[in-house]
Amino acid sequence: MNTDFDKIVDRKPYNNVKFGLRKAYFGTEDIDPLWVADMDFEVAEPINNAIVKRAAHAVYGYPFADDDFKASVCDWQWKQNQWKVAPEWVSGLPGVVPALLTAVLSFSAPSDEVIVQPPVYFPFFDVIESVGRNVVKNPLILNNGRYEMDFDHLQKVITDKTKMLLLCNPHNPSGRMWTKSELTKLGEICAQHQVLIIADEIHSDLTLGGRKHQPIAKISPQISEITVTCSSASKTFNLAGLTCAYTIISSDTLRRKFDKMLSMTHLFISNVFGLEATSAAYRSGSGWLEELKLYLEETIAQMEVFFQENLPQVKMMKPEAGYLVWLDFSACGDPKAVRKKLIEEARVGLNHGSSFGAEGENFHRINIAVRRAEVFSALSRIQKVFSN
Ligand SMILES: Cc1ncc(COP(=O)(O)O)c(C=O)c1O
Repeated sequence: MNTDFDKIVDRKPYNNVKFGLRKAYFGTEDIDPLWVADMDFEVAEPINNAIVKRAAHAVYGYPFADDDFKASVCDWQWKQNQWKVAPEWVSGLPGVVPALLTAVLSFSAPSDEVIVQPPVYFPFFDVIESVGRNVVKNPLILNNGRYEMDFDHLQKVITDKTKMLLLCNPHNPSGRMWTKSELTKLGEICAQHQVLIIADEIHSDLTLGGRKHQPIAKISPQISEITVTCSSASKTFNLAGLTCAYTIISSDTLRRKFDKMLSMTHLFISNVFGLEATSAAYRSGSGWLEELKLYLEETIAQMEVFFQENLPQVKMMKPEAGYLVWLDFSACGDPKAVRKKLIEEARVGLNHGSSFGAEGENFHRINIAVRRAEVFSALSRIQKVFSN
């Protein structure tokens, strides 16, 4: 392996949410922050080289997602997912959350309904409610420690006010990868009821154990025509601070509306360094990504053993993609008391499951994209607190 993922990188001196907002979020700085979904790892060398090269030009006027950027996205989607994306389907913007918000604004009106499947990435709720649309929940079913979609309930909650469904594929917080048959069923129900699918596929490159991601828009032309795919290199290559993402929309009608909203909000302006970094990652980052996945897989394998042997009362949901692990503390008592113990006694800062919807109340999400030793130092402290 060329990359040393065990290298100590001190992020504290530099502005970042993970360390900088510990007090605001956990009430103390005396915790190991294993929450916000970014990585402690330095980026792949070609990415940094591209940024340094661009910085040398020293003029940072407004950039946009140009043909070169779009070509890198299309080539990447082909390489990763064998998905043939036409360059004109791609729009650039500063983030996937802004893309979700833009979709809600473009394709619904106040008091319309938008479906989410909780527990799910918390901004899904915010982008709907903050602009006066109504969240309709189709909660995931927990079956033998694995989430499944509830298609019967989904059909029941769709009304003539339902304009779209926000899909998280792969799923944050559980790391579940939806299968082709699940996505086909979801797509068919949505197509039948003219409900748009806003597919957040930001975790799609971090598939583990040799699994292959299934973009929902690739399933059929019919599903593609009702889908807005939102993605970015930011999770995969640790570029969140460079604010650069993109959407893929094959329907001309939807894309025109979406792009009009981007133009009104000026969100079509991307970030100079984000564009360069994304293209460099997509063109030269595959080797680094494979190494990262191996490192994460090994951490996850060791975590499974750790929980089985030392902390069986906490159930770990093994992620199929990504570096976020969903931990079930149901057997450890009152959720608020568990959270207090994690912060005050174990001194670890995890994302409390309730922020992903009430369905996540008994869970905590741990970010394992840090040095392995740090993960196990935190887990050992959790073990001490909860094995009593
Ligand atoms: C599912 C999902 N979507 C979007 C984002 C954030 O995307 P961005 O920073 O591009 O807005 C995250 C970050 O954790 C995420 O997990």
